Amino acid sequence: MKTASALRELRDLRNTLKGTLGLVPTMGYLHEGHLSLVRRSKAECDHTAASIFVNPTQFGPSEDLSRYPRDMPRDLALLEAEGVDLVWTPTPDVVYPPDFQTWITVEKVSQPLEGAHRQGHFRGVATVVAKLFNAFTPDRAYFGQKDAQQVVVIRQMARDLNFPLEIVVCPTVREDDGLALSSRNAYLKPDERKAATVLYRALICAQEAFEAGERDAGRLRAIMSSTIAAEPLAREDYVSVAGPETLAELDSVERGALFSIAVRIGATRLIDNFLLETSNSKSQTFNGDE
Ligand code: PAJ
Repeated sequence: MKTASALRELRDLRNTLKGTLGLVPTMGYLHEGHLSLVRRSKAECDHTAASIFVNPTQFGPSEDLSRYPRDMPRDLALLEAEGVDLVWTPTPDVVYPPDFQTWITVEKVSQPLEGAHRQGHFRGVATVVAKLFNAFTPDRAYFGQKDAQQVVVIRQMARDLNFPLEIVVCPTVREDDGLALSSRNAYLKPDERKAATVLYRALICAQEAFEAGERDAGRLRAIMSSTIAAEPLAREDYVSVAGPETLAELDSVERGALFSIAVRIGATRLIDNFLLETSNSKSQTFNGDE
């Protein structure tokens, strides 16, 4: 496995890789969710590359940038064990040199949900992902359904800017009790870790109500909210029942709808979602150059 931190070095190493390249962008502190993307890329592409970069521009001023968990030696060992070919570990000044002034704003789909609660978050995500696409020129890029809105934003960005690559979305990997794997789970104290299953429980309750015939989005939101309210350590940020592409809130729900929630457990903010139709098991691809 080759690693690079300078851009020049990365480009030189990338150019030695012939055949198709899959890219797995990450912020490190890797878990089985990240590794599932790596394995999917390994299965589908001749070569697999990853990036490890805690992107400062996607964190708000009151967010957890400085305490975001990091363990570069462990991350590199995990990627090496998976057979990754190339890893970029840039420092912030490599990605954002002095006088950096070009930003990508994906207008509509960045607005609701996470965008409404995390000002500037998706501007930071879209900008860094575009830079990663330019740096690696991958044929496919792998993202997790765990961050459903991120996928919608990146897909829109890839389409609008004609990135000639395929976006592959992989199912959310969960703990046995349903908690979606996340680097931020490391923040949870033992009692908070137990309470954190409330996200999955709320989504399951709403899904069961849908399967039992409930089609009123307001009532499905209320079911999620009351499940969260019943957990003393949890505080709701939002619950949403929205269209999977526009992310606009629905009045009445059909298959394909996206249920998503954001919850604070103590000082830790967690998100999760279900895509009704695909029952979180099917993945979708999108070719940005179509
Ligand atoms: P990060 O949170 O490190 O996640 C990297 C990738 O792993 C994302 O595509 C995310 O959706 C996916 N992922 C995280 N948890 C997952 C899980 N439990 N199951 C499946 N996939 C999971 O997302 C980011 O970093 C950043 O925003 C990034 C895209 C790298 C841009 O900075």
